[in-house]
Order: sequence, then C-alpha cells, then structure tokens
Amino acid sequence: MTKKQHDLVLGIETSCDETAAAVTCGADTILSNVVWSQIATHRPYGGVVPELAARKHMEKIVPVVEEALAVAGADPTSIDGVAVTCGPGLVGALLVGLSFAKAFAYATGLPLTGVNHLHGHIAAVYVHRDPPPFPFVALLVSGGHTNLYYVAGPMDFEHMGQTRDDAAGEAFDKVAKMLGLGYPGGIVIDQLSRQGDPDRIRFPRAFLDKTGFDFSFSGLKTAVARYVQGEKKGTGGIPDIAAGFQEAVVDVLVQKGISAARARACHHLALVGGVASNHRLRERMKEAAQEADIAVHIPNSDLCTDNAAMIAVMGYHQLCQGDISSMDLDAYSKTRNLQHVRG
Ligand code: KG4
Ligand code: ZN
Repeated sequence: MTKKQHDLVLGIETSCDETAAAVTCGADTILSNVVWSQIATHRPYGGVVPELAARKHMEKIVPVVEEALAVAGADPTSIDGVAVTCGPGLVGALLVGLSFAKAFAYATGLPLTGVNHLHGHIAAVYVHRDPPPFPFVALLVSGGHTNLYYVAGPMDFEHMGQTRDDAAGEAFDKVAKMLGLGYPGGIVIDQLSRQGDPDRIRFPRAFLDKTGFDFSFSGLKTAVARYVQGEKKGTGGIPDIAAGFQEAVVDVLVQKGISAARARACHHLALVGGVASNHRLRERMKEAAQEADIAVHIPNSDLCTDNAAMIAVMGYHQLCQGDISSMDLDAYSKTRNLQHVRG
C-alpha cells in the first residue's frame, strides 16, 4: 500500500470474546467500529469458554464485517488493506478472524497485515482527539496483560515492565467472582465501588522493586479472598471490599505509570486496555499526572476495551511501512517480541 491520505483499512479482531470489525481512514479517522459482545454466551460459565468463543465468532464474523462496511459507507472494492489480530489471545478464536481476513484479502487482492493485539491497544490512543506526541510511555492494563512500554514511534515499542502473575483485569474478574458479582467483573466492581468507602479496608499494595516496572496482583487477590472468607474477621460490606480492592490496584497502577514516565523523561503518558475504562483509575491517573506535570491521554471507553478500530489503525501504520503478511500468517496465544519491536 502506498502512503496516501485516505487509505481505508478493514480491521478484524477476534482474540477473545468480542467479534469486532471496523473501517478506518488514514491514521486517525474511524468510519465504523462494530463490536459484537459474547458476554451473554459466557456468563453462565463465569468466564470465557474458548470453544464457545470460537463458535460464536464463526456465527458473527460475516454479519459484523457487513455492518462495519455498511456503517462506513464502504464496500470491499473501496477498501485498501486488511488488518487482523493474530495474537496474543485464544488461538481458536483468533483463527476465525484470521481465516476470514485471509479469505477477504485473497478474494479482493488486498494487502493483509497481522497485528499484535497489545500494539493495537496502544494504537487506540493514536486516534484520540489529543494524541500524545512521540515518545511517550504507555500503561496497558487489560484482562490478560499489565505492561509498560516506551513508545518511540507508531511502530516502535520498548517493553519496560509487566505483571509477574495476574493481570490487573484478571484480578478484577477474580475478585468479582469471589464476591459473587458475576462475569465480567471489572465493570461491576467499578460501579459497585462508587457506593463503597475506598479507605475502610486497606488491602496490600505490591510495589515490588521501587525502581522497577513490574507488577504483581496475586497477593492482593489472596488478601481479598482471606477477607471474604472471614479469616481476618472482616466487617466491611461488599461495596467497601470492592472499593478497597479497586483502590489498591489503582494506587499501584498510578504510581508505576507516573514513575515510568518520569524515568524516561516523558511528559506524556497513555493509559490503554480494558481496565483503562475504570472511572477511579482514570480520575486518579489524571490527578497524579497533573501534579507531576505529565499529560495523560486515555482513549474513550469503547476504544479501551477490545475493538477492531485499534487494530485497523495499527494495521494502517504497518501497511504504510510495507509490513505485509503472507497467506501462511499464523495465530499465537502468548506474547512474543516482548523486548524491543521496531517497525
Ligand atoms: O482489553 P480488554 O477488553 O480485553 C483484553 O485484551 O483482555 O480488557 C478486558 C478486561 C477484563 O478483565 C475486564 O474486567 C476489565 O478489562 N474491565 C474493567 C472495566 N471494564 C473492563 N476493569 C475495571 N473497571 C472497568 N470499568
Ligand atoms: Zn484486549
């Protein structure tokens, strides 16, 4: 794809429990962003069932793509390139999007590019009304990852740190399950905590090595479990437990995010991934950033949780750089290229 102003990219995302397709134009315009959530399918099981996720993607991928094209006023002949998530994620789920994208690219003769889901989450901030200038530090907090990156360019990600055990979103989901709040838990804890006192119960914060940028949330999860089981003779109600837990996660994320930006002398910090839609995290990060003279950039909630517009935007940059995948593009479950990725 030659670098033009108005390249239309069809993005496809099926890494977990959302079937998503989007059409973007150039580096910063979203024409459509359709997300079919599978929550109702997985709710009875208390979490994502990989095989059911793949089957639902099979059922929904065609109508979701058709809707994304229709909303954008585009048809397959007006698209200039196809971007698809190829990992990390559930392999069976990823293969549905990947197979569809390959078929679409093959039938239309369009270039195809495989996008790393985590890079996609970071690219969500590129379409923000006030995108951060490069370089900036990105804190990615999702259901599967809690990572810090130094982002030197649209395709230039230097890994700074990550969780050593549970991801922040995973901790939200597990604590919600313990509290009998169902699935998915993050948003329920977010809402319930508004009625609770964040200071009533002080759960432990794992800051680990003060100068490092790794995270750990499993000790906090265990502390909440012990509290709930009454080992600590807890008297707080569920909203207080939710608020106390959320505050502990937010304290660590805010402190590490700000100190990572300081360590790299960056005055811009991006907060991305599903957990970045948490109201308390958004609020506390903005306050702390202001005090530290750092500008914080947080995409709108619908671009924080899984979506295909972020994949299309990342794909646009890759296609412009000639990063075109072949038809043997494969899916992968775990993060690779954890170190420095420069496109
Ligand atoms: O980025 P995402 O949609 O999918 C992954 O790539 O994992 O993130 C999903 C995670 C889930 O763990 C979900 O509970 C959490 O983000 N989440 C939240 C909120 N909304 C979603 N966590 C806390 N507060 C929220 N408002
Ligand atoms: Zn995600």
